[in-house]
Amino acid sequence: MKKNLSQNLKSEFPSTLKQKLIQRATDGSLRSLKKSNSDLIDFSSNDYLGFSKNKFISDFVLEKLNAYSNELHGATGSRLLTGNYDMIEDFESHLSQYYNSEASTVFNSGYDANLGLLSSIAQRQDLILYDELSHASIRDGIALSKAKAYKFQHNNLEDLEGKLAKFQNQFDTIYVITEHVFSMDGDSADVEEFIEICDQYAAYLILDEAHSIGTISKKGLVSYSQEIFARIITFGKSFGSHGAAILGSADLKAYLVNYAKSFIYTTAPSVETTARNWGGHLYFESSFKDFDALRQNISHFRDQLGISNLTGFFIDSQSAIQSCVIGGNEKVKSISNQLQQDGYDVRPILSPTVPKGKERLRFCLHSFNTKQEISKALFKLSELIN
Ligand SMILES: Cc1ncc(COP(=O)(O)O)c(C=O)c1O
Repeated sequence: MKKNLSQNLKSEFPSTLKQKLIQRATDGSLRSLKKSNSDLIDFSSNDYLGFSKNKFISDFVLEKLNAYSNELHGATGSRLLTGNYDMIEDFESHLSQYYNSEASTVFNSGYDANLGLLSSIAQRQDLILYDELSHASIRDGIALSKAKAYKFQHNNLEDLEGKLAKFQNQFDTIYVITEHVFSMDGDSADVEEFIEICDQYAAYLILDEAHSIGTISKKGLVSYSQEIFARIITFGKSFGSHGAAILGSADLKAYLVNYAKSFIYTTAPSVETTARNWGGHLYFESSFKDFDALRQNISHFRDQLGISNLTGFFIDSQSAIQSCVIGGNEKVKSISNQLQQDGYDVRPILSPTVPKGKERLRFCLHSFNTKQEISKALFKLSELIN
């Protein structure tokens, strides 16, 4: 029976939190969940190669489920308890082989991978240097670690080198983290230069490959697997599924299994998810036709920018992410709405996700977009902003 309580307990929302929502609405940045409209032409999903709808991969999932077990579909527990099933170990071996890594460790998402890695490896006497445009998962991982952290200017190797020179004797270990392709700008880090500088200062390099595998490269920085301390690959982008893996040494794997809380204290990915991620890799490795189609679409998009007088609005990018910086939450939302009314699903990226004044439209290109769709969408955009 319900007890007779005083009036102190409340189910209503605290006013300080309500105020934060009101502030978002005032800034034009209040987020809400909307159903995605599959009738629109997809210029916004991370399904760069169309693998979320790939029949080979779906068939592979069924086949693998039957081959491994007729019963087990869920993971049933954490990897350290009952969730370490055969298929996930076989998939990790496959990843290590494909990406030329001594070991790989699967996580439930790229967010979990970055959180677990960064929060666990860096100790109190260590330093983390990170690109100022790093993804939220990298920043949150850093925030949870005990190490000191400083950002360096976006893709600015001089600034990074200056910081390495200044701090090299003040910390036990220095970690440098950057993204191969940046999620909001679509531009790329010059990873070979990063490797050289980190080598010079004996710093450990971590590379987030979430948006680069399957878009600008087939295997990421595979030839530098000995030089890069950890590479993070994700399955929610080019592989059309979800999950992630950290590639690195066997020692790194042993460390993560012991200390990365987002690996230890969570249910392992389901057997179905693992089968999907494995199938995605096998399909990708068997034919690079989707990768080639995407590369051609990226070239076509960049050519069309010139023809439509739009080059100046776009950040220089050779990846599947093409960002048109417009400025102002309301203005970007209005142009995005007009493009959507014309049938193009191009999403606005608002502040505070990007800095104020750098609000933008983000085009995500895919292998399955047609050249005509790209040309028409850009023609419409040039009418709206030129
Ligand atoms: C650079 C980068 N790293 C990590 C993540 C997180 O990956 P996931 O979506 O698998 O959590 C993202 C997601 O957008 C990302 O852009």
